[in-house]
Amino acid sequence: MTRIGFAYNQKPDPQALAAADSGTEPRPEDEPPSSRFGAPEPLAASPLPTSDEYAEWDGPETIAAVEQALLGLGDVVRLEANADFPAALRDARPDIVFNMAEGLRGPNREAHVPAILEFFGVPYSGSDPFTLALSLDKARTKEVLAYHGVPTAPFVLVRSHEELALLVRRLKSASRSGARRTRGGPPLPTRFPLFVKPVHEGSSKGITERNYCATLSELEAQTAFLLESYAQPVLVEEFLPGAEFTCAVLGNGATAHVLPIVGMRFDALPEGALPVYGYEAKWLWDRPEKPLEIFECPARVDDRMRDAIEEVTLRAYHVLGCRDWSRIDVRVDAGGVPNVVEVNPLPGILPNPEDNSCFPKAARAAGIGYDELIQRCLAHAAERQRVPLDVRFDLNLARPLVAQGASA
Ligand SMILES: Nc1ncnc2c1ncn2[C@@H]1O[C@H](COP(=O)(O)OP(=O)(O)OP(=O)(O)O)[C@@H](O)[C@H]1O
Ligand SMILES: [Mg+2]
Repeated sequence: MTRIGFAYNQKPDPQALAAADSGTEPRPEDEPPSSRFGAPEPLAASPLPTSDEYAEWDGPETIAAVEQALLGLGDVVRLEANADFPAALRDARPDIVFNMAEGLRGPNREAHVPAILEFFGVPYSGSDPFTLALSLDKARTKEVLAYHGVPTAPFVLVRSHEELALLVRRLKSASRSGARRTRGGPPLPTRFPLFVKPVHEGSSKGITERNYCATLSELEAQTAFLLESYAQPVLVEEFLPGAEFTCAVLGNGATAHVLPIVGMRFDALPEGALPVYGYEAKWLWDRPEKPLEIFECPARVDDRMRDAIEEVTLRAYHVLGCRDWSRIDVRVDAGGVPNVVEVNPLPGILPNPEDNSCFPKAARAAGIGYDELIQRCLAHAAERQRVPLDVRFDLNLARPLVAQGASA
């Protein structure tokens, strides 16, 4: 029997947290919250509350559901990713670990558990520490994508108020001269509207309608606000005005494939709302009593657009070194070309269909239930690392879609 380790971070009990903290109930990352989970702190001009530390961690229901799915493939040892993790890992001696630990703190938090697993030579599922850390930095991710010619909106990173002042000067002079490129540098995001966001966040922390900047003065004010509120650099990029999709990928190499594409139906947002799946849509307008019907899966797109979305998704997956699974956000630019917005190599996987979790939703549309989704992810990892695993499905059944121009 294969010994499967299961690495995760479990959210503290909300009541205990409320007693110890500001009272904000934590919620999972990446998930629209028709929600039994509370909204995160409203955006204020102050640093995030400490309870946001747990925002990305999983609830007991998700952890139990994943464990149940893994039990279909072997014996399961729970390995909570806390300070005892290295010792528990050594004692457990698993043949392979299913990793969904979001990590505790810092921009490299998602890399910590896989790095420990590598240190001890234990095979594990999902991307390696480098890819996990890279994708938590939206600007570095875009640099790699741009280098490989994967479409992504022109952008610049602003690390300080001085850099913001410099950017404002450069944008003023670019608008006078019409130049997009400064000597030796990458193209500036010059075409308004621009969109700004904290570089290391997820779950739309710091992403509200105010981040849509139609003018230079709006850009200046909102970027300054984000620099102060989130104490991290701000990504300034051109706003992609077209349709938005999120794409679940399973597999590796030439057989990596995109599950049915999830489309955003912005017409489900309140009248007059901007077409942005940000803080308001995720946490204010999506309520348990009135869920926001914002997802459509499979997305209604013609074959050409579907192929283009799948191609850009797989190219991003390969050039960033994603493994086994990931969820990639894509948005169409003014010229009709799908661009990569961001990459999530540890996708949210809430088991309850009512929670509208995109990865399980895409799998269901492909006829893959929750248990099989988790098992497929582990099976891809086992195949890649030649760990024997007794699976009852053909891993390569899904339509293999080889990305044109993918470098891996
Ligand atoms: N350049 C852009 N052009 C248009 N819309 C954008 C752009 N960047 C972000 N958005 C909008 O903001 C939303 C949130 O941005 P993004 O996906 O980067 O952040 P996130 O909140 O970390 O996402 P997740 O919850 O998936 O981790 C996107 O889904 C999209 O609607
Ligand atoms: Mg996103």
